[in-house]
Formats: sequence, structure tokens, C-alpha cells
Amino acid sequence: MGLFNRGFKPNVSRNGQPPPANGDLPAEGALPPAEPQARPEPAIPEEPAPERAVPEQVAPERDAPLDSPAGHAPRAEPAARATSAPPVNPAPPDHSDEDRISASEALAPTRRPGSSRPPGAAIGDESERRAKIISFANQKGGVAKTTTTLNLAVAFDESGHDVLAVDLDPQGNLTMSQGIDPDKVDGSMYDVLVDHVPIREVIHEREIDIAVASIDLAGAEIAMSMQIGRERSLEKALAAVVDDYDFICIDTPPSLGLLTVNALTASDKVIVPVQCEYLSMRGLVQLQNTLQMIRENLNPRVQIEGILPTMLDSRTVHAKEAVEILEENFGELVFKSRIRKAIKFAEAPVRGSSVLKYDPKGNAANYYRELAKEVLTNGAS
Ligand SMILES: Nc1ncnc2c1ncn2[C@@H]1O[C@H](COP(=O)(O)OP(=O)(O)OP(=O)(O)O)[C@@H](O)[C@H]1O
Ligand SMILES: [Mg+2]
Repeated sequence: MGLFNRGFKPNVSRNGQPPPANGDLPAEGALPPAEPQARPEPAIPEEPAPERAVPEQVAPERDAPLDSPAGHAPRAEPAARATSAPPVNPAPPDHSDEDRISASEALAPTRRPGSSRPPGAAIGDESERRAKIISFANQKGGVAKTTTTLNLAVAFDESGHDVLAVDLDPQGNLTMSQGIDPDKVDGSMYDVLVDHVPIREVIHEREIDIAVASIDLAGAEIAMSMQIGRERSLEKALAAVVDDYDFICIDTPPSLGLLTVNALTASDKVIVPVQCEYLSMRGLVQLQNTLQMIRENLNPRVQIEGILPTMLDSRTVHAKEAVEILEENFGELVFKSRIRKAIKFAEAPVRGSSVLKYDPKGNAANYYRELAKEVLTNGAS
């Protein structure tokens, strides 16, 4: 187990048995305090793995409280969330707390063979609708949400599917990564969510169709906060295009505020990119709790499609151990696909392009083609 397993739920259940194959989550309180909003190190090219190295010990730090899932407050700036906490060992898991949400209750694992629903299967008559709606969410910043949204969307498109990407992040990174300037767009998701402008009016055709963001979106949470049905604004907006696409991929901001709640309320599935660093994996319980609240109150169908290890630097023991911890704690929810570090991921957005277009034959593009295959094989096509 070693250094990195401290604070994670041991690999046994409360009755001392090994965890179920569905990858139960560590219970809340079993993990050390959540991590700071550290940005990833600059992308580096892949190189062969060297001999084992001693992993660095990093003092845990604590996040500031996350936005309320009800999302009435404007989202916190990532940089504002990191305050230091003493580097103490976390308390061991409390196995006596029978009231806490069990992992299977919380996550409703979907990655077991035969457990997938048919494409678009959802609440009510939504089983008839065409699009599968996937959110890419993790309240931690810089874990490759936007990179994954774009490149997986383009990989779906390459495999013959009609895809809409929705930029729900006021940073507008997804919009920019398709060569569109968020400061110059006529209409954006703000107008859709707040003023109920038809979403078709903010869709631009690029490698895939993209519903764009602008900086205005930063004010959407406040503007929506007094509206009745504020959590369902996106779901309602997407109803107009849900039969035009096979996949709708929603990029979310690094918070669990009202924009992310809208995304999760509109979605069938959530893909959770996780940077392969110990400190990056601790916010997953908060995301799990938010999802549980969404399921109970707004959208019973939303489930985690998979947890995606990103920015994997296979040269380091640290990264290997981080992936092992993910697999020990989340089991089959962890995708088999791995997104390794590659400089192309940083270069492609500068050209307003996905890596699949920027370097179609490169490894980086293939990582997302493999992920697309895995998602499609898993029943999401
Ligand atoms: N596999 C990778 N290898 C190297 N660099 C990567 C990789 N994936 C993403 N990056 C780079 O890491 C940075 C953060 O990625 P990205 O913007 O996708 O994260 P994010 O989770 O959307 O961030 P935010 O929370 O701010 O929205 C970007 O500069 C991106 O180019
Ligand atoms: Mg992003």
C-alpha cells in the first residue's frame, strides 16, 4: 500500500471482505482533506519509463469549501480555494458510521458487463430520444476536462457519430480550442440559460458542432439563481436538439456550482477526468455526494460512465501508484484507457484544433480514439 494509500479506505469492506468488483468508493471521511487547485505541470513529451524512483511526499492541503450544489453563489475562482493545512495523517475510516452513503448507493456503477443501457435510454419517454448526453466534470481545475470533452467528441465524430459539444465554462476554453474567440461571439450559453435563446442560435460548426461560451457566463449563476427551475435550464434548452445528435458532450467549470448542476441534471452519464496524482484524487468524494443529491432531487438517471486517468506520466512511480489507488478504490469504474502526457495536447488548442486533427497519426490522438472505442463498446453508442 505504501505512502499513497494513507487515508484511503483499505481494500476491505466493513465486514473485512475484499471490495466488490463494482469499485465502491471510499466513504466520506475516509479520505484526507481535498486538494488545492494546482494546475498541471507543463506538458512534457512521453519518454520510456526509467527505473523505480522514490515518490515525493507532498504535504496535504485543504480546499476552501466548494460551492453549494444548489449553486446560488457565484463559483469560486480555483486559485481562491487553496489554503494550507498541516501535513498530518488523515483519520482512519470510520467503519462504524452506518448512515453514510455506501459506494454502490452513491455511484450506481455502470461499467459492469451487461449493465449498460441502450443509447439515449433515460427518464420517461427519453428512451426514444437520440442523443446520449455526457458531462465531463471534476471540480478540480486543470485535470483535462476540456481536453477530454473536445477530443472525445471529435473521436466520436470520426467514428461516424453526430456530436454537439457544449461549453458551459465561463473560461471559454472549449470555445477557444475550436478557434472561436469567446469575446467576439454574438450569443453564448449565457443567453441560452438566462434568456432562453434557442440553443441552435449559439451553435457554431467546426470539427464538431459547438455551443459556445463567453465571459458573460460567469454571471449566469447569479442571473439564474432567482429563476424557478434554474437547475433545469440546460436540460430544457437541449430538448430542442436532442434528436439532432448521437452525442452531446458538456464541458463544465472547475466547481460544483449551478452551471455544473445544470450539466449533471441534463446528463445521462458523467465522465470524470482525474489527473494521476495522489493529491488530485481526493475531491472525488465531493463529486460523488453532489451526484447523489442530483440523483435524489433532479435526475435519477445520471450515472458515472467512468473515471479517466489523465496526464499520466508513466515514467514515475508516483503515477503508477496513483492509478493503482484509483483502481483499488473505484474498481471497474476506472476506464481501461489511459491518457498519457503529451505536448501535443498543449499545442493543439493554440491552433484551434483537436489533437485528432492537429496530429492525426500521433499517440495523443490515439489515446482518445481508444477511449471512444471503450465508451462505445460499453453501450454508449
Ligand atoms: N494528456 C495531457 N498531456 C499534457 N498536457 C495536457 C494533457 N491533457 C491536458 N493537458 C493540458 O493541461 C492543461 C489543462 O487541461 P484542460 O484545460 O483540459 O483542463 P480542465 O480540467 O478543463 O481545466 P479547468 O478546470 O480550468 O477547466 C491544458 O493546458 C492542456 O493543454
Ligand atoms: Mg476546462
